Amino acid sequence: MEKKRSLVFVTNAMADLEGLAGEDPLRELKERCECRIWPAAQGPSHADLLEALEGCQGLLCLISDRIDADIIRSSSELKVISSCSVGVDHIDLAAASAQGIPVGNTPGVLTETTADLTFALLLAASRRVAEGDAYVRSGKWKSDSDWGLASFLGVDLHGATLGIVGLGGIGQAVARRAQGFGMRVVGWSRSGDSVPGVENVEFSELLAEADFVSIHVALTQETLGLLDARAIGRMKRGAVLVNTARGGIVDDLALAEALAEKRLAAAGLDVFDGEPIGSDHPFVRLDNVVMTPHIGSASTRTRLRMAQLSVQNCLAGLEGRPLIHTANSEGLR
Ligand code: DGY
Repeated sequence: MEKKRSLVFVTNAMADLEGLAGEDPLRELKERCECRIWPAAQGPSHADLLEALEGCQGLLCLISDRIDADIIRSSSELKVISSCSVGVDHIDLAAASAQGIPVGNTPGVLTETTADLTFALLLAASRRVAEGDAYVRSGKWKSDSDWGLASFLGVDLHGATLGIVGLGGIGQAVARRAQGFGMRVVGWSRSGDSVPGVENVEFSELLAEADFVSIHVALTQETLGLLDARAIGRMKRGAVLVNTARGGIVDDLALAEALAEKRLAAAGLDVFDGEPIGSDHPFVRLDNVVMTPHIGSASTRTRLRMAQLSVQNCLAGLEGRPLIHTANSEGLR
């Protein structure tokens, strides 16, 4: 008798990636399992997720899907949750561990790509690239006399100190880039591990010394609000803050206040507390903020590799094999 195939709910058809790769990133999953694929570009609501997951052994999701304890408990047959992301703060890991469900994620493959975007934001924020672009497009740059010695002055990277909060893979990749730019690099991580070319300092020292602060920790209970009003208040006057990690680590309103008062020179932000942000968000009114819509890992090659890895994690979990990357291995022990 033929073995019954596992049923997997996939929250995104990955159709755009198919066009880029020339092949369906979900091909292997579709060949080996029964796939229930969410048809719309906009992901499923909480209610849709609850309904669609019924009877499924696998779930393949994105960061935009909130996988809470109700969702996790809704399918008694669920054997694996695989997220096409490195971050897993959208998934209730404790609830998954309590059910003995491994949660797969995709670290490693997006490290360099995210470090590149971090540097793009660092440069764009410090050299006012978006502001300059808007000025040119608006037609305000009309005559030679609009070029002034003191127009669009920014902050130099070379010779400045970069403070890296979190020295995991992405933090280290950012440190390597900073060394090439002639920056002094200081770093803080909870583990205290040392990294070549990075001076380990206390968090408070980092805030006090860094001309640029870049965030590279995961969002957890411990890092929620790490850069709150008090921490922002301890940053150097005229410093630049970059966040390509997660919203929630930074208090956005306190940051907006510091930027509006020019206590901080600028910020480059790819992530926000509550995404997407609306056009009425305080950041939108500030010229000294450069924003991107959570695209740290968005290069063609990296997104394809993330998709492939998430499929492999999903298949491993369904077949009872160890996942390539398990985000809740501690909790499962
Ligand atoms: C991740 O993978 O966690 C990024 O934030 C999105 O690609």
